[in-house]
Amino acid sequence: MKRIPEPFRIKMVEPIKMTTEADRKKSLEEAGYNPFSLKSEDVYIDLLTDSGTGAMSANQWAGLMIGDEAYAGSRSFIRLEESVRTLFRYQYVIPVHQGRGAEQILFPTLVKRKSADNPVFISNYHFDTTAAHVEISGAKAINVLTPEAVDTGTWYDFKGNFDLEKLATTIETYGAKNVVGIIITITCNSAGGQPVSLANIRAASELARANGITVIIDAARFAENAWFIKQRESGYRDIPIGDVIREMFDYADVFTMSAKKDPMVNMGGLCCFKNDRELYRQTQVLCVPMEGFVTYGGLNGRDMEALSIGLWECADEDFLKYRIGQVEYLGERLRNAGIPIQYPTGGHAVFVDAGKMLSHIPSEQFPAHALANELYIEGGVRGVEIGSLLLGRDPATGKQKETSLELLRLTIPRRVYTNDHMDYVADCLIAVNNRASQIKGLTFTYEPEVLRHFTARLKPVV
Ligand code: F0G
Repeated sequence: MKRIPEPFRIKMVEPIKMTTEADRKKSLEEAGYNPFSLKSEDVYIDLLTDSGTGAMSANQWAGLMIGDEAYAGSRSFIRLEESVRTLFRYQYVIPVHQGRGAEQILFPTLVKRKSADNPVFISNYHFDTTAAHVEISGAKAINVLTPEAVDTGTWYDFKGNFDLEKLATTIETYGAKNVVGIIITITCNSAGGQPVSLANIRAASELARANGITVIIDAARFAENAWFIKQRESGYRDIPIGDVIREMFDYADVFTMSAKKDPMVNMGGLCCFKNDRELYRQTQVLCVPMEGFVTYGGLNGRDMEALSIGLWECADEDFLKYRIGQVEYLGERLRNAGIPIQYPTGGHAVFVDAGKMLSHIPSEQFPAHALANELYIEGGVRGVEIGSLLLGRDPATGKQKETSLELLRLTIPRRVYTNDHMDYVADCLIAVNNRASQIKGLTFTYEPEVLRHFTARLKPVV
């Protein structure tokens, strides 16, 4: 496959410690066979997340120096507001410390305004913290993702789409008066960074509007989604990406954004409103005690400066071509070696189908987590399990929740690793695949009650 070269050169480097297999075996044992508990120093290539791990540009670093640290009405806030207004055409801007900061001030405000008996939010797929904040606000989180998403081996252009029929029947079942919001997650992280088409966004939005339901975009990877629309949706190839972005956002009323992803800042987020001034004002009321005064929302002036620059940089077509191309390059190397992945690859990660690759390990012994551990031992590469371990137990019955997907996410930070690093990752995973049948599952030595995957301790099954 043709490599797409990096549209940047490297101005500053960060050395990485090299380790031996014996070092890594020891580190993993000490970490309770849970890569979350490894010291990052002991990791060679860190593919745990693309969140806050991107490399800022020279311009963003320069922006830090001109940040205005005024408590109220800072120049950096005003610049950020201008960027949002131009890029998205959203009038009202609240900065927040990260994506979940937006969720924690918006969702309770929306629930209160709707005053439903049985409040629910419906999404193509709620990200974990998004679902958690829906639940904290007293509502229920329902996912209506297209079934194409679980067919990992088959190419579908838009595996992040809503199942529109299911969306309609879910609205009917709960009654429009109970549906607080429809959350369109672009790209759909949980399905593998898979895009949502404009036709699907439009249809979901029309359904919501016909029923008087607020439409929210979870915009963490908005630029990557727009890029996929340009590549795959008929009629959009020659439309400038800025127009595609504005059309996506036209169909919603509010967006929340973890700016730690596409806009490549290490910390930051947004909660923005197209024109609903009343909702904006009500949300500001929660912002002050939860995040901070409404023109900084938990961010430094310099953070806002870097963010307003990053918003433009991530929507650059040359950058996106390289970015998505790098993820695809890693995916193709794995596929050519017969390793099953979520296909096509998504925007920010390659999802390896560990359920297929390690089919001898039952889900209660966490095949994708076992694969993450083996990949670390093989080459110091840290990925993350998205499967049974993450899903956890049903709080009512105590039984393991069932999932048809046991995935290992290899999440690619933006502008951080070269294609040589990608080759190295592929070589390591291919070596692991060659000894797949010898890999053992895992069992708990410590299982926390909630969000167990972060701090659990495990040991190999003998
Ligand atoms: N929405 C989506 C789609 C996300 O992927 C994330 C975070 C959030 C919201 C929350 O944003 O972390 O800034 O509070 N995803 C990270 C990940 C953590 O690794 O995928 P946050």
